[in-house]
Amino acid sequence: MVVPNDPQLERPLQPKDGTAGIERPRALFESLPEDPRPLMSLSSRHVVSSRQFDRDTLLQVFRLAAQFESTPALLHPPLAGKILISAFYEPSTRTRLSFESAWHRLGGDIMSITDPKSTGMAKGESLSDIAEMFNNYGDVIVLRNSEAGSIYEMLDSLRIPIINAGNGIDEHPTQAMADVYAMLKWRPELARPDLPAAERIRIGIIGVPSRMRTVRSLLLLLTLFSSSVEEVVILSREDDLFDEGQREELAGAGLNIRVATDLDGELPGLDVVYINAIAWVGDTFEAMGMDMRLTPDSPLKEGAIILHPLARGEELSTDLDKTPHNWYFAQARGAVFIRMALLTCMVRRISEVMDTPDPSRA
Ligand code: CP
Repeated sequence: MVVPNDPQLERPLQPKDGTAGIERPRALFESLPEDPRPLMSLSSRHVVSSRQFDRDTLLQVFRLAAQFESTPALLHPPLAGKILISAFYEPSTRTRLSFESAWHRLGGDIMSITDPKSTGMAKGESLSDIAEMFNNYGDVIVLRNSEAGSIYEMLDSLRIPIINAGNGIDEHPTQAMADVYAMLKWRPELARPDLPAAERIRIGIIGVPSRMRTVRSLLLLLTLFSSSVEEVVILSREDDLFDEGQREELAGAGLNIRVATDLDGELPGLDVVYINAIAWVGDTFEAMGMDMRLTPDSPLKEGAIILHPLARGEELSTDLDKTPHNWYFAQARGAVFIRMALLTCMVRRISEVMDTPDPSRA
């Protein structure tokens, strides 16, 4: 065998860093009291919007995710014999692969669509007919589609649950769950409803709430933790940052939102910096906000964490990867366990996979 003379081949693989071990999820798991009842409400339900979730349900999803993350291998994979239809009609790295990784770890089987041209859609088949077919072939669907309305067109025909894995400009609720899960692993006390004012955090979001589905869904979930969030600063120089009524809805739900344009002026006061540069413009994705970049020279607060939910472009320097600010890899890793928790609750009765008996069956 000829071995190329590349020093990378001699280098031992690096151990996981502190954000990828089991200590943080274990600490989060231990900090959250168990209450299986909210999880039962997820059984056989669709997940389309962050609006469907309340704080108690989210915290129990996070608790179960943390349990999965701190348990290296499942003795009894709960979804053996179940089939996931993974339908991605738009490119994806993180979402598709983390859903499929989650499903494999749960012991299930997968049918994956990665190109709409390989389905009847290319021949003009309607979404409701495709949904009708899905009913016969799987137990749950994960759908990524560029059209905001597509998932809603399928709901009437579906008899199995569907998860919105990104519908155009609209929402990406499970990404937002992974975002908040990362924040709670970083600071488990953020789950407390009575966090003292001095411990509340300030979150900067570099992005456009009206055109970025991840930002839209994250802001909706943050309303459930507004007692732990001193302020959300939207950093952008774009016009039309909010849809009509969007900012008012968030403020009405208790989120303290401010808009700013001076990134370096704001960074020293931010505990979490969430950066997202991919936005919908017309009917296609574009990089947006490239005038706001994070580099090792950015005046980040000591201890601040960076989250980045999507494919990276020049907005986030790779030179930050080896700094303690990098929580974006942990964020992507945690998405696997969030999706394991959610899928388990949607497809199996939670009482079948937890130690605590179902109180409704007592
Ligand atoms: N987070 C996210 O939606 O990334 P992908 O587009 O790679 O799935």
